[in-house]
Formats: sequence, C-alpha cells, structure tokens
Amino acid sequence: MACVGAANFHSTPLAILRCLFTPARLYGPSWHAVPWTRRERWLYVFAVRLLWEYTRRHDELGVLSLPEPQLGNPLPVQWDGRLISQDLANSALEANAIARALDGASPGSIVEVGAGYGRTAYALLKVFPKATHTVVDIEPALTISRWYLTSLFPGARLRFLQPEEAQRLREGSADLVVSISSLHEMRRDQVQAYLDLFDRIAGGGVVYLKQWERWTNPVDGVTLAFDEYPVPTGWRSVFDEVAPVQTNFRHAAWRVPSA
Ligand SMILES: C[S@@+](CC[C@H](N)C(=O)[O-])C[C@H]1O[C@@H](n2cnc3c(N)ncnc32)[C@H](O)[C@@H]1O
Repeated sequence: MACVGAANFHSTPLAILRCLFTPARLYGPSWHAVPWTRRERWLYVFAVRLLWEYTRRHDELGVLSLPEPQLGNPLPVQWDGRLISQDLANSALEANAIARALDGASPGSIVEVGAGYGRTAYALLKVFPKATHTVVDIEPALTISRWYLTSLFPGARLRFLQPEEAQRLREGSADLVVSISSLHEMRRDQVQAYLDLFDRIAGGGVVYLKQWERWTNPVDGVTLAFDEYPVPTGWRSVFDEVAPVQTNFRHAAWRVPSA
C-alpha cells in the first residue's frame, strides 16, 4: 500500500492481530456443505473478521448490532460471541452511505432494483422502520428475495415487481432509490430505461448507486463503466467516491429535482 495517513488504513495493527490469533471454529455441521479446505475456511473467517472490524468504525447507524438472520444458513463465522457475515457488514457500509446522502431524513418509500436475496433491504428495513420497500428484479432473484424478506418482515411493508411492472410506479413515489451491483448485468438500453424511471419516480428524493467502476460482461461482451452511466443532467451530486472495501466499485448519490 502506498504511504497514506493512518486514517486511510482499513485495519489497525491491533485489529489485524486479534483477527489473526483469535481461535476460529472451522468444523461443524454448518460447514459441511462448504467444499473448502481448512485453510480456505480460515482465510474466509479472517477476511470477514477484518471487514467486520473495519465496518465497526464506520457504522454510525448501528447496523452491526442487528442480528444476522439464520434464514438461508449463512456461513458459521463467529466473532465476539455472535454470528457475523460479510453481507451484513457490506450492507452496513451501504446503509451508512445512504443515510449520509439522506442527510437525516427518513424515507417513507424505498425502491431497490436488483436486490439479490435481500441483504441490503434487510438493513434498510431495520434502519428505517416506517419505510416500505419495493424490490424490482428478474427471476429467480425476485422469488428468492420475496421468500427471504417476507419471512423476516410483515408483508405490508414489502412489494415485489417485475421490471415491466415497475414502469407503472407513480411519479415522485420513491423517497429513495437504491441499486447495488446490478446495472452491469444489463444492456445499455435497460440501464437507460432504469435511469429514466428513477428520474421519474424519485423526484424530490435520493438515488444511491453502487456499481462496478468498469465491467465487461463475459456472456455478451458489453462493457459498462460507472462514469458513462446516463445520469440525468438535473441530478445534484451528493457524493461520488471509490467504494470502501470493494475498491473496484464506485458508489454515488444524487438528489433528484422535483418534477
Ligand atoms: C450481483 S446481484 C447483486 C444483488 C444485490 N444487490 C447485492 O449486492 O447483493 C445482481 C442483481 O441484479 C439483478 N438484475 C439483473 N438484471 C436485472 C434487470 N434487468 N432488472 C432488475 N434486476 C436485474 C439480478 O437478478 C440480481 O438480483
């Protein structure tokens, strides 16, 4: 690493030593389905611990104090007497970045495009307990996030839409739009259609994107770069930065003018 101030290091020497030398459980029924060697399991546990310790120092919202849902059998990484995961830590970093963009406001309605199984939605639904959360996705992720999130939260706060159904969302109906690691899976025209949709539904609200800095899809050879996304000219940038931890990603937030 280049010579940088101590504040820029992801981990303190003490945290690295504690993560290295605290014994880890690398056997047991929860590891059975994981075809990793003992060394790979240890490296994974070490990396998740480091991520957790880094996130702890940036988690003003207290997302890390949320329990890790047992649903879906997460990998059994224990730390400080509890189950931890890279997904909850990454979602904590994202939720804190989103809170920074919202500048103290609590969104009443969140729309998330490409939610995967629902890891970020879990954090946002907890952090903003009055918000509704609309997932827009394709199959099979839509069915998986519906199963995961409706098992954890009352259905009244949740809605699950196919991309075509999302086109019927009303103007100004989202206080917050979120999309993480999703646009690179789409064609340019699909990305354009989503940004047009966000422009229409998030008037007066905030859009948060966290995406690959640059990605070439191995299936169709389409390359998309973050700084080439067709962001509407009226959006006002709140921040645009290299993402913490996953430094091949950028994350950015904008305020969308009211229509
Ligand atoms: C790599 S996963 C990321 C999931 C989640 N955001 C995360 O960070 O864990 C990509 C997500 O984008 C979704 N996706 C791909 N094409 C899409 C489309 N045309 N419309 C909506 N979602 C799409 C996938 O189904 C999946 O949920």
